[in-house]
Amino acid sequence: MSEFKSLKVVDNFYQNNLFYPMPTVIISTLCDDGTTSLGSYSLVFPYYIAGKDYYAMILECRNSSNTAQNLLKNGKCALNFIKDDRKYFKEAVRLGFPGKTPAEKMKDCNLKLIKGKAEGNRPLILKDAYQVIECTWDDSLEDGYKAKEHIGELEGVEPPYNNFNGITSKFGCHFILKIDGILMKEKYADNLKKGLKSNSFPNVPVDYGYHDSKNFWYK
Ligand SMILES: Cc1cc2nc3c(=O)[nH]c(=O)nc-3n(C[C@H](O)[C@H](O)[C@H](O)COP(=O)(O)O)c2cc1C
Repeated sequence: MSEFKSLKVVDNFYQNNLFYPMPTVIISTLCDDGTTSLGSYSLVFPYYIAGKDYYAMILECRNSSNTAQNLLKNGKCALNFIKDDRKYFKEAVRLGFPGKTPAEKMKDCNLKLIKGKAEGNRPLILKDAYQVIECTWDDSLEDGYKAKEHIGELEGVEPPYNNFNGITSKFGCHFILKIDGILMKEKYADNLKKGLKSNSFPNVPVDYGYHDSKNFWYK
């Protein structure tokens, strides 16, 4: 008898069928009026890690989210990684509720925002993040820029769909995000340089997703 049980693989298998450890990233994007909007994301992973002309991350998100809409419009974002602290966690959950405009979300935001270091017109970054990746969407891959024709279609986008960059399903979007720069708090940057010890790591939360159709599970 195997010790393993086979599970039926369903939609959102990463949280419904697995204990899949994920980061908690608050993504800042640039709105039309030049303000910064924040949204919570976990499906953000390294994509091009070596052997290409540039380094990249991939983000998987709802195509109607403020984050996706802003990325489709101007391509700029910052991936802000938060530490394991109730204050940030509570805000991450609040920023993770769909259906609010950036102005509605940001008016109650208690996270401090500052300028990043990458060039050009950019969203602000989280002052308290332990690391930040400033990025630009590569809209050339798979003609991702064609997704711009669907800006403002918030009730679902009709086919055809792309495979990995742009609008990938009725409600889904994938963005290959070119890394423009990595910012790290000095203490951790020093630790990376000097060699890691067990106490060199930032204390970070692990997100296991939305398991019981009510709560996000964290450890
Ligand atoms: C911890 C956490 C992680 C999340 N990860 C994702 C994700 O990876 N992809 C996604 O589409 N939604 C994710 N969500 C839900 C989004 O935060 C939600 O759609 C939110 O409305 C996005 O904000 P925005 O519309 O301002 O971009 C997550 C929510 C939380 C609380």
